[in-house]
Amino acid sequence: MAKTTIKISSHCLKELKEICDSFNHEKGQLINVLKKAQEKIGYLPPEVQMVIAEELKVPVAKVYGVVSFYSFFTMVPKGKYPISICLGTACYVRGAEGILQEVERQLNIKSGGVTPDGLFSLDCLRCVGACGLAPVILIGEKVYPRVTPNKVKEILDEYRK
Ligand code: FES
Repeated sequence: MAKTTIKISSHCLKELKEICDSFNHEKGQLINVLKKAQEKIGYLPPEVQMVIAEELKVPVAKVYGVVSFYSFFTMVPKGKYPISICLGTACYVRGAEGILQEVERQLNIKSGGVTPDGLFSLDCLRCVGACGLAPVILIGEKVYPRVTPNKVKEILDEYRK
């Protein structure tokens, strides 16, 4: 089979190979390899998936299948401040959808998008384990409890300064 041409920086390629080495190129470690790769590179575009597939000797389709199955993997770059809206049951019944709509309106992007200045990206999650504080949103690692649509602008402004 012809060798795939992969457009990826040599630095990035070296990092990916080191990650695969650290897991002994074991096929069964695919999820852990992908997690590490996302931590290092920020996201998992097709080029990165191809390198990992070659290194672990698994079909690219399998890598793609895993990346698209788990919501914590992303194929697009995140913003500097990634926003996650919890749409789990507890948050949903307490108005998470209205919060999502307000964030979309304020940032003028849809879920899955990134603002043109690269400051924010927006995604939805299922239950983040803070149901007692519902509805919650996360910006990076920070959890905002009992959010209402009225609070959205104030929260976003903290990051716009
Ligand atoms: S449903 Fe949102 S934290 Fe559990």
